[in-house]
Amino acid sequence: MKFHGDAGTNPIDKETVVGKPIHRIDGLIKVTGSATYAYEHRDIPPDAVYGWVVGSEIPKGTIKSLDKAKALAMPGVLAVISTLEVDTIAGGQWTQLPLFGGSHVRHYQQAIAMVIAETFEQARDAAFQVDVEYELEFDGVYDLHGNVASAVPVPDSINFPDGPILDTLGDFEKAFAAAPVKIDQQYTTPYQSHSMMEPHATIAAWQGDTLLVWTSNQMINWARTDLPEVLSLPEDKVHIRAPFIGGGFGAKLGIHCDVILAALGAKEVNRPVKVALQRPLIMNNTVHRPATVARVRLGSDENGKLNAISHISTFGNVRKGMVEPSTSQTRLLYAAANREVGLRQLYHDLPEGSAMRAPGEATGLMALEVAMDELAEALQIDPVELRLRNASSTVPQEPDVRFTACHLSECLRKGAEEFDWKRRNSRPGEVWQDGWLSGMGVAVGIRDHQLTPSNARIRLGVDGRITVECDMTDIGTGSYTIIAQTAAEMMGVGIEDVTVSLGDSTFPKSAGSGGQWGAGNVTAGVYVACASMRQLLASKLGLNESEVTFENGKIISGSRSTELKELAAEGEIVCEDGIEFPEDKTIHQSTFAGHFAEVAVNAYTGETRVKRMLAVCDVGRVLNPITARSQVLGGMVMGVGGALVEEMAVDPNRGFFVNHDLGGYEVAVNADIQEQEVIFLNYPDSETSPMKAKGVGELGLCGAAAAVANAIYNATGVRVRDYPITLEKHLLDLPKTARNFAH
Ligand code: MOS
Repeated sequence: MKFHGDAGTNPIDKETVVGKPIHRIDGLIKVTGSATYAYEHRDIPPDAVYGWVVGSEIPKGTIKSLDKAKALAMPGVLAVISTLEVDTIAGGQWTQLPLFGGSHVRHYQQAIAMVIAETFEQARDAAFQVDVEYELEFDGVYDLHGNVASAVPVPDSINFPDGPILDTLGDFEKAFAAAPVKIDQQYTTPYQSHSMMEPHATIAAWQGDTLLVWTSNQMINWARTDLPEVLSLPEDKVHIRAPFIGGGFGAKLGIHCDVILAALGAKEVNRPVKVALQRPLIMNNTVHRPATVARVRLGSDENGKLNAISHISTFGNVRKGMVEPSTSQTRLLYAAANREVGLRQLYHDLPEGSAMRAPGEATGLMALEVAMDELAEALQIDPVELRLRNASSTVPQEPDVRFTACHLSECLRKGAEEFDWKRRNSRPGEVWQDGWLSGMGVAVGIRDHQLTPSNARIRLGVDGRITVECDMTDIGTGSYTIIAQTAAEMMGVGIEDVTVSLGDSTFPKSAGSGGQWGAGNVTAGVYVACASMRQLLASKLGLNESEVTFENGKIISGSRSTELKELAAEGEIVCEDGIEFPEDKTIHQSTFAGHFAEVAVNAYTGETRVKRMLAVCDVGRVLNPITARSQVLGGMVMGVGGALVEEMAVDPNRGFFVNHDLGGYEVAVNADIQEQEVIFLNYPDSETSPMKAKGVGELGLCGAAAAVANAIYNATGVRVRDYPITLEKHLLDLPKTARNFAH
């Protein structure tokens, strides 16, 4: 079904199951360990052996020789697959660098071999006996900060494939020059690693000429074409399964070397092969979030009315690698008649950067929303008030385009009230308690809601149970639960009467999990498939769908009611359908948040503690307040990570990420944040889909880091514009503040 742009009233509006705080239906099998992740299948397939991937020790050059003799002689070793014996295998649509094959080394820890042995330990042991001779090339570029001037303008190929290189409206330079109050600052964000808990992992087994893989991947509907293509197999000869995924955060949008090498290895030894990437390989072999250097300029009048906005963001990546679209939100926020946004790329030879946890807005807001805080201070206007004064219900960069449901101002007002924002001292560095400086910060969150087709198959069993099948993934988000809620609501059955089967490439193509487009689109697809089923069942009674209701496992028409299972008495009834969306260039769909944070910074050590966080979110209909809240909480934690700790440090001489494990790469954890709260405004958006629900996961992250950064400044009076805000960056300046309070 093609969505016509206005959902009207429909069965979901009853909200008997949808919208209810239902605990995740896969919770029990997850906490009891019976949900099987990619690497964990022990019985199917039986007889699996283990692969250990060997990564390149140089960042750029050529492999002169790769001697596997010693490794092959080690106990239990069955085979060694060498890159020199395999033609280059591309990475599919989502990565530019090849995943395996050939003698050319393009980045540190590129996969160059895999040892296969009877046990994991034997494979790992033998991997150290693979002798490799390299010829290092010395012209690699590994330093973004020292080479910003060599970056070249590039289009925002994620949001505007054919768009301009510099996206302008009005005359920024003239308006900025004339503005009585100006901010012109540089903000930097580092390379970051997704750091999902479950590594990239695959078990591959050949069944005749069919390749069966259990793999950890967010987007089965992409992998099901990418994997056959790069392995030169027909699509119907590749079967992908991913029923459970332990986090992805963008790292698993595409396929990586684990699945390629597992497939090659299984062919080679004629047994199933298990491959999990060790953490150092995850960080240097797969993808990461590119670092950015942003220049933000804001020009306003004395009343805080913005008239000029410029955001130019430079990022580093391999040639043709994905852009880090950090200026997306600057097109969408704050009414100002004169504006420009642009991206610049430094081509470098570090591993390939790609999408990570809200690519674009997450990093872009870390710059823009701190610049807004700086402007508020320069104007002596409250930062919440400054944002309200510049609110816009149309897309500022494209004034003819309006937002569908947009309640950003209400998010800010409600947040200010709930957070007790009036307690904030507008003069920084003045709230002192026992050696700790306290402060409060605010930032706007915005993240697009992207529309994508999604299909599902509905089965009505002879027992009256409803089964939903599609290739959607649940990456820890709650997909199983909201899909079951949708089907239960549509078919008029209890959620316990619905079975949801996901993550299988033999099922209909669905939205998949990425870019916070999963929930809104996949449930819309399930809605349409259920609507077809309703029509089919009604017609079996000689009725039209509009003449019946579905309640308590029955179809009801006037005084006549028929049990669903009666209709399927002679055999299961199956229905498959899906949703597509028209392109409407007059509207823009986004989700909005007001993020608030309160922190304490130790005046003597510089250590930051996050005391309270609040996100007030406008995401359309909330399908399930428990799973939606968990999504936002997780995003906020990642915001704290970005503000305070997350950074992959580059060795600019050897060309690699040094802190390539979870000992050296820190993420925020429970103990780092004392209190978090989430409020949903819950305004269903009829222009989005029949579900009236938009994305939610990534919004929790977008803006959260800037709120923390602004709170730190309010606490200390020291502005750090280089993330993460680790203690050494403000430590030396803290005494200036602290001496006001020293006893
Ligand atoms: Mo997301 S970074 O599109 O998984």
